[in-house]
Amino acid sequence: MRASVDRAGLDPQGRLPKVQIRRVRKGDLSKVRDVMEQTFGDFLERQLGTRPRQAFGGAQYVHHRWLMEPWGCFVAEEDSSKIVGAALAVTWGSVGVLGPVAVLTNYHNQTIGQQLIRAAQDFFDENKATMHGCVTYPTSPKHLYLYHKFGYRPKQLTAIMSRTIDRGPARGSALAKGAATAKATLTARRFSTLEEAKKKAALARIHKITNAICRGMDLAKEIEIVDGLALGDTLLLERGRDVIGFAICHSPGVSEAPAGALYVKFLAIDPPQKKPENLEQFVTIVEGLGQELGVQRVILPVYARYWTAYNVLIQCGYQIDFTMVRMQRGKQEDYEDPSDLVLDDWR
Ligand SMILES: CC(C)(COP(=O)(O)OP(=O)(O)OC[C@H]1O[C@@H](n2cnc3c(N)ncnc32)[C@H](O)[C@@H]1OP(=O)(O)O)[C@@H](O)C(=O)NCCC(=O)NCCS
Repeated sequence: MRASVDRAGLDPQGRLPKVQIRRVRKGDLSKVRDVMEQTFGDFLERQLGTRPRQAFGGAQYVHHRWLMEPWGCFVAEEDSSKIVGAALAVTWGSVGVLGPVAVLTNYHNQTIGQQLIRAAQDFFDENKATMHGCVTYPTSPKHLYLYHKFGYRPKQLTAIMSRTIDRGPARGSALAKGAATAKATLTARRFSTLEEAKKKAALARIHKITNAICRGMDLAKEIEIVDGLALGDTLLLERGRDVIGFAICHSPGVSEAPAGALYVKFLAIDPPQKKPENLEQFVTIVEGLGQELGVQRVILPVYARYWTAYNVLIQCGYQIDFTMVRMQRGKQEDYEDPSDLVLDDWR
């Protein structure tokens, strides 16, 4: 299917269809999911030469994102009856993250994508997100052109990395061999096991960590949706009683984890504690959770600007599955400190 050949979006008189952008309603959810799957399926088929059985390998984006941030989810609807495109957006405090965005292939290049992105931008502005970002395909001129129109600049690559954990011996420390720092002084606790009051305190502590990484960044709603819908769990990395890091983990089913994999959506270590060996220990702990859950792989995303974190993952035996380019616009556009130990995914 090529948009330029098969323009099913035109009405019998050859006029452009009447497409409206509106917020997602509950009854749209499975349709939106179909539009995403179909559109990305088409796109990947053109890129790879074969169509993947599932565009996202079983990962789900629509239902929980809508429950988490209903005001940030938009559809493009033709003649008030057919959903032909969708965009999801979320604010993490001061940071607005856009995506996925999809327009059915036959409706491409009719400004529908731009209308959806504009709606997401307005949502960011209403919520005072001062830094906006997304990831896209670095080799696609269309994507770079499209986001440029909205002021997004291409930054560095995000590498989606993974490691198989089902067989083989446990990984030894590559970073801190023999060093006193390799002592297992760090422990982990699951957010889901905390009492309500302790959850509040943990969220406040986590907010301090993310705020130290990027002023105003707040991941509370991502943690709460994972907890509320049991999409996985958030691991709290502790030294003694102090939380020094956290990892929002999705396990397969109805989350953003593909089948057979534990997927870390966001991991951060408190900047004053940013020793590479702390990240290495945390990765080992995350892999332990993966083993407990019986998955075969752990997926960790890393933005290449976090160069120390990227190097730690390479040393831990992680391989790059694919890369995307991060696009950013706004006030704190270059907020990242390359030595911060952060793994974050803006898909
Ligand atoms: C990316 C996507 C959402 C864009 O939707 P769309 O409705 O086709 O986009 P629009 O028509 O609003 O805008 C496309 C713009 O790119 C331009 N364009 C198209 N092909 C181009 C190319 N090869 N090089 C440069 N610009 C190009 C169009 O001319 C248009 O700009 P204009 O209005 O200034 O002329 C859609 O292509 C899609 O769903 N792709 C598959 C899924 C995907 O990749 N999602 C985004 C992941 S980040």
